[in-house]
Amino acid sequence: MLVKKAIFPVAGLGTRFLPATKAQPKEMLPVVDKPLIQYAVEEAYAAGVREMIFVTGRHKRPIEDHFDMTFELEVALEQAGKQELLEVVRSVKPDDMECIYVRQPQALGLGHAVLCGQRLVGNEPFAVLLADDLMVGQPPVLKQMVDRFSEWRASILAVQEVPLEHTRRYGIVDGTPVSNRLVDVNRIVEKPAPENAPSRLGVAGRYILTPGVFHEIASQPRGVGGEIQLTDGIAALLRREKVFAYRYEGKRYDCGSKEGFLEANIELALNHPALGSGFRTYLKGLSL
Ligand code: UTP
Repeated sequence: MLVKKAIFPVAGLGTRFLPATKAQPKEMLPVVDKPLIQYAVEEAYAAGVREMIFVTGRHKRPIEDHFDMTFELEVALEQAGKQELLEVVRSVKPDDMECIYVRQPQALGLGHAVLCGQRLVGNEPFAVLLADDLMVGQPPVLKQMVDRFSEWRASILAVQEVPLEHTRRYGIVDGTPVSNRLVDVNRIVEKPAPENAPSRLGVAGRYILTPGVFHEIASQPRGVGGEIQLTDGIAALLRREKVFAYRYEGKRYDCGSKEGFLEANIELALNHPALGSGFRTYLKGLSL
């Protein structure tokens, strides 16, 4: 197994989701019945990652508590004979999964957050998952990327076609197609205006990176928005190493925005084994 560690940056301010994110990280917002961060951790686990590194900010407690053992709850469920719920609670953190927390003292940008995980990652390839991008794919999107990484042994960025008017929301890549899903990247630009965007391939919140990126991020001045940008670190890495963009198979919900979060809740509820059919009937009955 080549990618054993993943960084989950969860120290952002989540201003697009205020007031819900005033006193809790947006990654704890639940979609149907699970917090966003759990979807991302499950995706990493399914890709073979076992060491989960959370880069936290001021409101770190709910995330730590979520992945901790809840002794009283487990005893109560056991005594009540609620075996199924007990399994649900226990499966949040499988025994062979390790959770480590490191603090980002100030929200100085995604690049800076990733850099906070450097000592824990060391000199090996690692994944970065932004939990506010909820990805639904089969196989899970990070697993698709790990498979490409095993083949190419180079950094892989998840990308998707985005509407031209949305390029300002993404890192945008340009490059040479290698196969129908893989592009050999020669350029990456953070949040370009549509007229300056080199393509419409926008980076989604999943990355597999080689450890060389740490040195590159550390050498960057502040970029767009005064933040230390991961994109700038990747742009510098490109000059030394190959970087690929991978058009993932699956769907992404931008749960950092209210619209994306609502869409995710509706679609995942419709596909939920226990809730789906009742919820569909309910929606059909709404006179919209
Ligand atoms: P966003 O760009 O979505 O920023 O961060 P944000 O602050 O979380 O949200 P808005 O735009 O104000 O609503 C992308 C990811 O990077 C993390 C966030 O937690 C999110 O998962 N991040 C961002 C950090 O961990 N630290 C930072 O300094 C910035």
